[in-house]
Amino acid sequence: MCGIVGYVGPRQAQDVLMHGLARLEYRGYDSAGLAVADRGRVAVAKAEGKLARLIERVDQSPLPGHAGIGHTRWATHGVPSDRNAHPHSDTTGDFVVVHNGIVENFRALRDRLEAEGVAFRSDTDSEVLAHLVARAFDGDLTEAVRRTISQAEGAYALVAMTSRQPDRIVAARMISPLVVGLGEGENFLASDIPAVLEYTREFLLVEDGEIATVTRDGATLETIAGSPVRKQPFTADWETDSVRKGGFDHFMAKEIHEQPDVISRTLGARIRPSEDGGEQVALEGLEWSDRDPAEIDRIWITACGTAYHAGLVGRVLFEQLAGIPGEVAFAHELRYGKPLFRDGSLTLAISQSGETADTVAAARLARRRGSRLLALTNVVGSSLAREADDVLYTWAGPEISVASTKAYVAMLVGESLLALELGRRRGTLSRTAERELVAELRTLPGKAARVLEDMDEVSRLADVLAGSPDAYFIGRGLDLASAMEGALKLKEISYIHAEAMPAGELKHGTLALISDGTPVVAVVTQEDVHSKAMLSLQEVKARRGLVIAVAYEDDEEIGTVSDHVLRIPRVADVFSPILAAIPLQLLAYFVARRLGRDIDQPRNLAKSVTVE
Ligand code: G6P
Repeated sequence: MCGIVGYVGPRQAQDVLMHGLARLEYRGYDSAGLAVADRGRVAVAKAEGKLARLIERVDQSPLPGHAGIGHTRWATHGVPSDRNAHPHSDTTGDFVVVHNGIVENFRALRDRLEAEGVAFRSDTDSEVLAHLVARAFDGDLTEAVRRTISQAEGAYALVAMTSRQPDRIVAARMISPLVVGLGEGENFLASDIPAVLEYTREFLLVEDGEIATVTRDGATLETIAGSPVRKQPFTADWETDSVRKGGFDHFMAKEIHEQPDVISRTLGARIRPSEDGGEQVALEGLEWSDRDPAEIDRIWITACGTAYHAGLVGRVLFEQLAGIPGEVAFAHELRYGKPLFRDGSLTLAISQSGETADTVAAARLARRRGSRLLALTNVVGSSLAREADDVLYTWAGPEISVASTKAYVAMLVGESLLALELGRRRGTLSRTAERELVAELRTLPGKAARVLEDMDEVSRLADVLAGSPDAYFIGRGLDLASAMEGALKLKEISYIHAEAMPAGELKHGTLALISDGTPVVAVVTQEDVHSKAMLSLQEVKARRGLVIAVAYEDDEEIGTVSDHVLRIPRVADVFSPILAAIPLQLLAYFVARRLGRDIDQPRNLAKSVTVE
């Protein structure tokens, strides 16, 4: 959702804030704004649209000063517009706030404030916070923020500043993420670490219900009740390069190309030599007793978006390799359903950001109902990681492009490791089988690199797909999950209507839509259903559909029923989704390029959806 950045120190705040907003634009990009305190007043600049519009504005009329807050927005209440952009001010203009999340009782608060004579200038829920802070202020901004959050309900992060105490910015966190960045004689606030990574590596995590007061000289944390909170800073060792495009035109292209490294990193130190001369999986960070894995009788997997597709793959891996039956549920469905969690169940919550509101809520519910909670996430210290009993990190590094690529592949690798570990510890996987599968995992970085070497066919195909209003994606078993992720990628960034379904389901309705040249992308890697996949493709060919297959490079038969084949190196079938993802990502990328789409920041979407 929205991105937040704040600064107090000797530099021109505007420079730090604009830099931070550029790093955060992936969080939301329908409008942006900043406020800087200077000589007894707070100046505000905001602009609807991409950050470039705001840059133009502040280039024309800079905002000098050494303390400020900035925001990039993804609309929840009120259309994208200058007036709905943050920061929001109170009626005097002395108090400003930026806000991420939703104030759920804003209607009641707004009615009350209006009845008291406050004239609102925006349609947002956030503006109430500016008026509440102003009204609660009697000399101490921290106290005013405390009084404000005791009235506002919901999941949000808030940062406030005032011309009456211009040396500080004060933030409060209620679920939506927030960190304090610690510098020398300067300090920062941000919704995400990359926003200020170029200035500092030392961070304090602001936790739910905490208030942070940040000045040039330091940062103090306290609870809503006013008790001081002391905690150790942590160091973010991300490379600043990983938040730059590194020579690619888009973050998405860069992140697709990082995948061989990401696979190696996620495998990382989690494979170690075994006594029989081979290798075995050894997962760190799982505080499981010897009995715990054996006692898991069911696995619930919950996630949204791309992470949900990773969950579909995981379900099959846990079933096939570890003998655990499972269910995959969209987090927004699970949290309001009536799932029968039991003590022996394990819930695996998957989320790149670890901040998706629905996923965090579903995970919490599972834990409350007695399920053991394991988080699979890319962000250390994220809400999901902190909620969980155990955490398995994907080491994909910061993912900036809204459409997820490397984080997805890292999730699949993480699940593969987990399934192997569970299989060994539950006795469902023989030593030989584990050794062979670990050896296969080891080949994945090289094979992923090979897929990336030859992009000619996929780029040619993009011309074909770019001219079509629709595309269908089919697969069986694990290939269905790959097909679903491929369709989502295409929709997200090219805006072409794409629909995925089990190949066997095509004939029960959708075949009616297949005619001359209708693109059907088929993922065909699973040996046990290969002949069945061929049948489905024959059905498509018989209606003169255009078949684009993703298949192993040594699959000769596939050419007989396909117009185009995107080849991947052969790998154990259980790991094929890791490689199959790559040509499908590239296909979506090249199509979106042909169509001139905004690839890293597709319309209406946001990288991490921290509201319901
Ligand atoms: C948003 C993003 C998707 C992502 C989903 C889940 O919708 O646009 O790319 O897959 O959220 O995000 P998470 O951080 O929980 O994996």
